[in-house]
Amino acid sequence: MIFSRHTLNALSLGLLSLTLTQAAVLPNSDSVVQAREKYDFIVVGGGAAGNVLANRLSENPKFQVLLLESGQTERGVIDSEIPFFCTVLTPDTPYDWNYTTTPQPGLGGRSIHYPRGHMLGGSTSVNYLIYTRGTIEDFDRYAKVSGDKGWSWKNMQQYFRKNERFGPPADNRDITGQYDPSFHSFNGVNSVSLSGYNVAIEDRIMNASRQLGGKYKYNIDQSSGDPLGLGHIQLTVKGRSRSSSATSYLAPEFMNRPNLHILLGARVTRVIQTGKEHGVPAFRGVEVRLSPNGPLQQLTASKEVILSAGSINSPHILMHSGIGDAKSLKTFRIPSVVDLPDVGQHLQDHPFGGVRYNITGNDTFDDVNRETPIRQQAIDQWMNNGTGPLTNSIVSHLVFMRSQNQTVLRKDPASGPKTPHIEILIANGAPTGSPKTGYFASTGIVVTQPTSRGNIALQSNNPLDPPLINPALLESDFDKSMMREAVRSSLAFFAAPVWKGYIINALAGLSATSTDAQIDAYNAASVMTIFHPTGTARMARKNGKQGVVDPDLKVKNVAGLRVVDASVLPFVPSGHPQAVVYVFAERASDLIKASYR
Ligand SMILES: Cc1cc2nc3c(=O)[nH]c(=O)nc-3n(C[C@H](O)[C@H](O)[C@H](O)COP(=O)(O)OP(=O)(O)OC[C@H]3O[C@@H](n4cnc5c(N)ncnc54)[C@H](O)[C@@H]3O)c2cc1C
Ligand SMILES: *[C@@H]1O[C@H](CO)[C@@H](O)[C@H](O)[C@H]1NC(C)=O
Ligand SMILES: *[C@@H]1O[C@H](CO)[C@@H](O)[C@H](O)[C@H]1NC(C)=O
Ligand SMILES: *[C@@H]1O[C@H](CO)[C@@H](O)[C@H](O)[C@H]1NC(C)=O
Ligand SMILES: *[C@@H]1O[C@H](CO)[C@@H](O)[C@H](O)[C@H]1NC(C)=O
Ligand SMILES: *[C@@H]1O[C@H](CO)[C@@H](O)[C@H](O)[C@H]1NC(C)=O
Ligand SMILES: *[C@@H]1O[C@H](CO)[C@@H](O)[C@H](O)[C@H]1NC(C)=O
Repeated sequence: MIFSRHTLNALSLGLLSLTLTQAAVLPNSDSVVQAREKYDFIVVGGGAAGNVLANRLSENPKFQVLLLESGQTERGVIDSEIPFFCTVLTPDTPYDWNYTTTPQPGLGGRSIHYPRGHMLGGSTSVNYLIYTRGTIEDFDRYAKVSGDKGWSWKNMQQYFRKNERFGPPADNRDITGQYDPSFHSFNGVNSVSLSGYNVAIEDRIMNASRQLGGKYKYNIDQSSGDPLGLGHIQLTVKGRSRSSSATSYLAPEFMNRPNLHILLGARVTRVIQTGKEHGVPAFRGVEVRLSPNGPLQQLTASKEVILSAGSINSPHILMHSGIGDAKSLKTFRIPSVVDLPDVGQHLQDHPFGGVRYNITGNDTFDDVNRETPIRQQAIDQWMNNGTGPLTNSIVSHLVFMRSQNQTVLRKDPASGPKTPHIEILIANGAPTGSPKTGYFASTGIVVTQPTSRGNIALQSNNPLDPPLINPALLESDFDKSMMREAVRSSLAFFAAPVWKGYIINALAGLSATSTDAQIDAYNAASVMTIFHPTGTARMARKNGKQGVVDPDLKVKNVAGLRVVDASVLPFVPSGHPQAVVYVFAERASDLIKASYR
């Protein structure tokens, strides 16, 4: 059940049949929530992880589950529903937390936007829908560093199956040969498919892959755990529409469970100590603000509070609650309750650059990006029969590759020898804004195993102030050299014979003869984030000095509190992380259920 403050009031009056449209926020007394029964579990944040927990924990009708989400519903937000419009949802919109980074030395001192989804579904409601799983070696490293074999690739396959529901693409075309069904699940919760519309350069891309071979060789399915090579992109889509954690894990049949209560517009500021247990503080309370200017109130869980507020906000909430580095909390006069220096540290993110090319044709999505009759036709087509270019995300093919720089590889930071260092995303147009004229091909380029580590820090003792976010993008020489190699790999791809007469030239003066210094300057001026922060509440061995959570995702030296979201990943996966977060949350749900049997 989903509530605003208004519907909670209605609930207390015994009006139980509610629809979403009734769940608008109306003024009323904020004390309503306090009057409700105790919850077994309070989940903070309705994003990728939080909605899995809300769904799986409420499968047990004996558990009373409360989900607190700061944003509003995703229903009726058409830009979230239409896959191609993913780029307009952030930054600086009602669906974004509107964060910016500290000045980034690796980016020529620039501060950049740092989008985070602020709506039910969290970042899965605003992301670019790309579905990848990372590598076998990524998961086996999670198992190794945590000392828990349960996080291994092999054991996690059951959770990929519970998460994924592979279905036909929007155009219902025959996708034989574009994926391998043996790696997929057809009866999970979250819908996945291929692009809904073959891009005009499909043939050329496949021919370039054949002509070049090597690191561009075709890989029929990059969800196998061995993603090296060029493959067709897989997306979190259901027919024409985005599949987010809200549309899937909180579909009506789950949302309507009487033991699941969802409160929107509910901003949690702290977790609250409720006592002591076995010599450690218990944190089963949350402090929450239920309306923009409303008072703070407390809610308590009888079993656990689970933080799923994401890699920025989970460590932020912990620090404001006295859980973090005691010395730095002291400088903000926040009483330290649990000294955990790793809170907010080890932030690892993927730097995201790009190379754009102008082309001779006009069959790209650039006219869909600009105000043209073609854009309106595409919208009408999506609305009328759910087909056409808007069923796609902005990119259509992914290339995952290993670096070929032996100097760099002497100290390889990748999780193993089959794990990529570089990703190249191919787009049939200029994804993040086409200029008024011209037609383009482009590549997004990503350093998938960066060595730089940043951090989240407080800037005041007011939990409503945003934290200082330092993702340390392109800070290390390794990361810079990978980004340079990525630019050259993009240029090499579009130098394949098949592009002759199609590609005119790379923009920004880039070419095969560009020097290292020229490419580095270009990257420093243009690189941003691909929105994959992880590691700020990282999982580490039980009884070890490092880390924020144990392998069961319980906060160290605390009772009644777990963190389940991207922040617990001790290394960023070598791919787009949403599927990894989903399966971590699936296993966490099993671990939690098992401890209350
Ligand atoms: C623009 C963008 C594009 C992306 N593209 C892709 C992609 O194509 N493929 C991919 O795999 N990944 C992508 N990602 C990353 C992916 O979506 C995230 O890694 C994933 O959603 C993280 O899950 P999470 O549960 O940790 O956090 P989130 O999904 O961000 O959920 C956190 C939730 O907690 C809520 N919350 C936070 N603080 C509070 C508070 N104090 N009180 C109450 N609620 C709170 C937030 O509003 C949010 O709903 C993208 C992310 C962004 C922002
Ligand atoms: C982000 O900025 C937009 C536009 O200014 C605003 O509507 C929205 O409320 C802001 N988001 C948050 C979480 O403050
Ligand atoms: C791609 O290769 C196939 C097979 O060799 C050929 O028939 C086709 O014309 C090529 N397409 C392009 C765009 O070059
Ligand atoms: C695209 O090019 C074709 C011919 O190559 C032309 O007929 C068509 O009008 C062009 N479309 C646009 C929008 O310019
Ligand atoms: C959907 O509509 C478009 C025109 O808007 C048409 O070209 C296409 O064939 C239609 N597809 C289906 C499956 O009806
Ligand atoms: C390989 O790495 C070294 C060390 O970072 C760097 O100096 C060199 O320029 C790199 N080579 C290429 C071709 O990028
Ligand atoms: C392609 O880009 C170059 C500049 O890099 C420019 O001179 C040229 O006019 C462009 N061509 C087209 C067709 O847009």
